[in-house]
Amino acid sequence: MIILAIESSCDETSAAVLKDGKILSNVIATQAIHQKYGGVVPELASRAHQQQIIPVVEKSLTDAQVTKSELSAIAFTRGPGLLGALLVGTSFAKAMALGLGIPLIDVHHMQAHILAHFIDDPQPKFPFLCLTVSGGHTQIVKVTDYLSMEIIGQTQDDAVGEAFDKTAKLLNLPYPGGPLIDKYAQVGDPLRFSFPQVEMPGYDYSFSGIKTAFMYFLKKETTRDEAFINENLADICASIQHTLVQILLRKLKKASKETGIREIAIAGGVSANSGLRKTLQEEGQKYGWNVYIPRFEYCTDNAAMIAIAAYYKALKGDFCGQAVSALPRMTW
Ligand code: KG4
Ligand code: ZN
Repeated sequence: MIILAIESSCDETSAAVLKDGKILSNVIATQAIHQKYGGVVPELASRAHQQQIIPVVEKSLTDAQVTKSELSAIAFTRGPGLLGALLVGTSFAKAMALGLGIPLIDVHHMQAHILAHFIDDPQPKFPFLCLTVSGGHTQIVKVTDYLSMEIIGQTQDDAVGEAFDKTAKLLNLPYPGGPLIDKYAQVGDPLRFSFPQVEMPGYDYSFSGIKTAFMYFLKKETTRDEAFINENLADICASIQHTLVQILLRKLKKASKETGIREIAIAGGVSANSGLRKTLQEEGQKYGWNVYIPRFEYCTDNAAMIAIAAYYKALKGDFCGQAVSALPRMTW
């Protein structure tokens, strides 16, 4: 079985080829255009997807040394994501499947982030808990089978990736700021500044308050000393990252303790964060967890994760028809 998968939910155009459960290629074109606007501009994202999708798909086939006629199915991200961006991948996948006379597989973007753990070894054993952290989501998911997942906790406002990006913006760092906070944090003191942590019920999160607290903190310090940000950037980044990671881990520890599940995974763009990866390893040793951290290329948006999710759907005969449409607020 050879599957071509397409991802276009936000600002990465990606295509991957999978053969019998193994990834043969994974091509990712990142859209630099959004940087000068300080965030993703939906209409510009759609246009960039339109420009990139054909070369990206062609390169994925060339890299995999596979021809179109050998494909068994076309998979695509149906949602959640930006409607215009999703429409490009959805329409392209539908047209290609129709032209080749092969089935279509619709994939849920967040489920795919989790299933990226099944691309390589070691793979988590069921049931496992997955902390899914991206620019749009922050969830603790209980995964009982490849396609059987339950969200047991989630953010009630901003996603943690948004918290990284918005605090970075307040520090005048370019978009997306998450990776830059991570970079500066590596040489800073994480305990130099402290920020409030909101108490939320159950396994839920809230990140909007910390952004506001951070904004007032910066306002106060820069009024006192104009050079405050420049002179303390590493310590500020290390402290904000430390706070965000502590918030994430606190609920994950609670969930592990109360469910008795010690197979623990992370997924999504923020799982590339070195502070989160390191703290998770340390806590894992302390609590006897088996910790699963994806390879960097499978943390942020990519089509390889769409391909592996599609593979498990195909094994169950779960295909969709040509009437399928993009779902920006897709649930599972
Ligand atoms: O999963 P993803 O690529 O796209 C969405 O589905 O949202 O996640 C993107 C998010 C952005 O907020 C970005 O700043 C964040 O992941 N991110 C990071 C790091 N790398 C990516 N945040 C913190 N540290 C990183 N190293
Ligand atoms: Zn994503």
